[in-house]
Amino acid sequence: MGKKFHIITYGCQMNKYDSDALRGLMESRGHRWTESVDEADIVIVNTCAVRQHAEDRALGRIEEIIGHKKRKPSLVVGIMGCVAQEHGERLFEKIPGLDFVVGTDNLDVVADIAEGKLKPGAYTSINKNFLGIDAAAHIEPGQVSAFITIMRGCDNFCSYCIVPYVRGRERSLPPERILQQVRYAVSRGVREITLLGQNVNSYRWEDVDFPALLDMVAQVEGVCRLRFVTNHPKDFTPKILDVVEKHGEKIPPAFHLPLQSGSDRILRLMNRKYTLSDYMRIIEEIYRRFPDAAITTDIIVGFPGETEKDFESTLAAMRDVGFAGVFAFKYSVRPGTAAAKLEDDVPEAEKIRRLRTAIDLGIELARQFSQKHIGKVFPALVEKKSPKNPGKLAATLPSGRTVLIDENFAEIGDIVPVKITDAKVWVLRGEVVEK
Ligand code: 5AD
Ligand code: SF4
Repeated sequence: MGKKFHIITYGCQMNKYDSDALRGLMESRGHRWTESVDEADIVIVNTCAVRQHAEDRALGRIEEIIGHKKRKPSLVVGIMGCVAQEHGERLFEKIPGLDFVVGTDNLDVVADIAEGKLKPGAYTSINKNFLGIDAAAHIEPGQVSAFITIMRGCDNFCSYCIVPYVRGRERSLPPERILQQVRYAVSRGVREITLLGQNVNSYRWEDVDFPALLDMVAQVEGVCRLRFVTNHPKDFTPKILDVVEKHGEKIPPAFHLPLQSGSDRILRLMNRKYTLSDYMRIIEEIYRRFPDAAITTDIIVGFPGETEKDFESTLAAMRDVGFAGVFAFKYSVRPGTAAAKLEDDVPEAEKIRRLRTAIDLGIELARQFSQKHIGKVFPALVEKKSPKNPGKLAATLPSGRTVLIDENFAEIGDIVPVKITDAKVWVLRGEVVEK
């Protein structure tokens, strides 16, 4: 008899993909998805360990769900993902009532646990060859955009980052398996694919490198838009830009290129393996080829030893690039990482002030970027009805910004030319025009 299950996802897009793949696997084995935690026989929480705050939120949610056992003692509650891998069996002591712990290399055991083929317990062994759940990831009816993981793990060991410890060594998926997933998604009506990896630029399967893979995916019939995240400045090459250029509007010039800090001293302590001038050279090359490029970034403030001067360099770099979007984070010590040995010496109040300052500047830059769209015409991919604006459809521009358009002039899944009439920070308004 199939079980009713629900998955709650925290963290990055790769976790979202893993949850969708697990959903696909569970459904293929006869279990049924439910939107409601109250109705579920099994609830699995997919967790993120990248910052302490993310970890605390996920654990808090699990405790809350375990509370439902009072009403429904048969409820099974499991944890998967990065926090599961990080703490393993210890989670049973920490969270009474937890039934199973499934690490990042063992996601496929969840279905066996659900079916009683495996005992509930901790499954966190390291499997260097695990390439993810081998099931077609779930796709909602009418879903226009889908993520596809092309590589797992990370070998970069940025000094602050827990990912290499919880997601293990970097491994790429064979191109054929990726293409099969892309074809499946397209056959279900998906028009936009986003290729995912901790550092997609270091993708390699035999002689297929990332630019070659990107070129292959762009040629799959039915792929109308193609994006990719995340890039690493040390591995970002002009060959990638050649492929973007070759495929014109199909691969929009939108690049997420995490800078982390604008100070060379901090970049060295972070083990990022590039300097600010290396980074700026890439930016110049991107803008030279794509003057309208949308470049987004991640910034960490309050890294150990970060002085006011270092922080000012980060703000200056943000202005110089003119980022389209900035994700700023407060440094969070991750046990076991190299940076955890450094003194976490920036006072909390100062970290908060720097975070606020970086966020505010990020918002101002985002507004300026959005306003540059006004008066121009762009192809917009219609994603869905706007949840908050009756009568409007939400469409995505090449830059990644959302534009709201009148629902009488397009259908979900269409790519329509839209003239931008107004711009807030993240959301624009526009009118569908003749080609
Ligand atoms: N503290 C704060 N931010 C972090 N990130 C990764 N590890 C940490 C940490 N320990 C940020 C980086 C990365 C993004 C996904 O999360 O900016 O690019
Ligand atoms: Fe973490 Fe650096 Fe790997 Fe990104 S590249 S996942 S920041 S170690």
